[in-house]
Parts: sequence; structure tokens; C-alpha cells
Amino acid sequence: MSAAKEVQGGIWVPQAAAIAQEAGARLRAFYAQGVETEYKGDVDLVTVADRTVEKLIHERLGEAFPDHGVFGEEGTRLRLGGEFRWFVDPLDGTTNFAHGFPHFCVSLGLEQRPFGLSSTEDGVLVAAVIYDPLLDELFTAERGHGAWLNGHRMHVSRNALLAESLIATGFPSRKRHASPNIHFYQEFTLRSHGVRRAGSAALDLAYVAAGRMDAFWEFNLNTWDTAAGLLLVEEAGGLTTDFDGGHYRLDSREILASNGLIHQELLGFFADLFAGRELTPIPTPQEFAEHRRMRQG
Ligand code: IPD
Ligand code: CA
Ligand code: CA
Repeated sequence: MSAAKEVQGGIWVPQAAAIAQEAGARLRAFYAQGVETEYKGDVDLVTVADRTVEKLIHERLGEAFPDHGVFGEEGTRLRLGGEFRWFVDPLDGTTNFAHGFPHFCVSLGLEQRPFGLSSTEDGVLVAAVIYDPLLDELFTAERGHGAWLNGHRMHVSRNALLAESLIATGFPSRKRHASPNIHFYQEFTLRSHGVRRAGSAALDLAYVAAGRMDAFWEFNLNTWDTAAGLLLVEEAGGLTTDFDGGHYRLDSREILASNGLIHQELLGFFADLFAGRELTPIPTPQEFAEHRRMRQG
């Protein structure tokens, strides 16, 4: 088992980081032993690891912060009327986990909701912890105090051109036929160094914060996927918006996060794609087959 990491000080992060590392150690053990997979719907997978680790996290958060709420992917809804609430994804990257693909994490994001806020208004994200238990990488942030990876300050990349960028996206595991994302995937693949679809939105955001990726976008994520990563990106000097460049809301169904420098360029292509402009032609499979037949004589 890896040693507890030194984390940059703060009000909530030290205890939350210890919880994420304990949760990560449980995920590592389940991963090593192998687990059965169940379906929540379509290709939305869940395992005993997701449920066990969510329970562990809400118990530990309850001990550390007895008046904080917990909103977890696997159904935890506790104390949600108070000033603070944690958005918990106990295992982001379940499909990877279930297949033995070593890329997944624990994600904990803390929202502070000033008293009197209506239920439709967002509070402020104030703390973030994402832990990758296989690489033993701990990403942390508290608002106003920067973003950190294993105790070292993180900054977004300085890349100013989409054409020289490495970017990331993901695809939904429900209502897959309703997603237009493959068109965006195609366009951005043709316009950048490449698009990675690594299977963990929280790590995608953490990697933007760490400068390993220059941008990330996805349709239809949930707050437990994004809350921690958003704060990491902002505290690392990046930008997060919806696909029109508007302020990102916690319940937004779309997210664009970047180093800030390529954000306008990305938004321009979103506008073009939504308007049906500038699509780069590629051959259809049928046209390609025809060409192939001709080449083969
Ligand atoms: C999923 C991952 C994936 C994203 C999916 C999410 P889960 O979360 O973040 O990268 O593309 O949309 O649902 O189900 O593994 O917690
Ligand atoms: Ca998730
Ligand atoms: Ca999950």
C-alpha cells in the first residue's frame, strides 16, 4: 500500500485527500481481485467496487465533516439542505476498471452554498480531490490556493494553437444514439494532434489542469463527474464553459475545459459544427471501398 501523501494545506483537502486515498486503496484491491459487472442501463456498468467505495466515502465524510451533505453517483443523498455538499464519484472509469484497463479514479468535489440560495442556483466549488490509485497520483485544490499534484503546483499548458494540441473527450453510456459527439470527435481529430478517449472524465479534467492535455469536452456528464475536475482546471489557470462560452453551471449537460489559450478557437469550431459549417470532408466507407476496389484492380 502507498504511503499517505503530503498535501498542500487547506481547510477540507487534507481530510478529503486521506479519504480518497483510503477509497483508492479499496479500488486497487477490488481491481487486483477482479469483480463481476452488472448493467445499470444500456452500457452503463456498475460493480461491487463502485457501491462499496461510495459507502466507505460517505461514512468517512460523515465522520470528518458531520454537517456536510453527500451526493453520490451510486445513490447517496445525505444532508443536502446545508451549506456544504460533496459530489462523489467513487469510481470514475468503471468501464475501464471492469475490463482491466488501468485508468480510473476517485473524485470528490465540494460545493459551498451560501444560506438563502435557491435550489436552482449554483454555490461555489471550494475544494477538489481526484485520486488515481494505480499511478498513486493525488490531484487537489482549494479555491484561491492553486491546484496541486502530489504536493507540486500544477499549471495548465501554454499551448496557444488547437493544431498543436492534444485534447480529450468521452462518450455517454446511456442513450448513445442521441449523442452527436462522433462528429465533434472527427473534426477535432482532424484539427489537432489528436483526441484521446481514455474513459475517465474526472482524470481528463485533472490532466487538463496538469498541462498533460490542452482541452477536454463532453456531452451529458453529471456533477459527480465534473465538480472536482472543474475546480482543478480553474485553479491551474484554465477556463471552463458550456459550448457557447457561457458560464458553466454545475448541472450543465455540456462542458468545455481548456488551458484558456485555445478556448476561443474551440468555441468557434463548436459554433461552426452546430451551424453545419466547415465540416471537413472524409470519404464514406462506401466511397473508400470503391476506391479500394479500383486500386486492387
Ligand atoms: C464515465 C466516465 C467516462 C465518460 C462517461 C462517464 P463512470 O463515468 O467519466 O469517461 O465518458 O460519460 O459516465 O460511469 O465510469 O463513473
Ligand atoms: Ca463518472
Ligand atoms: Ca462512477
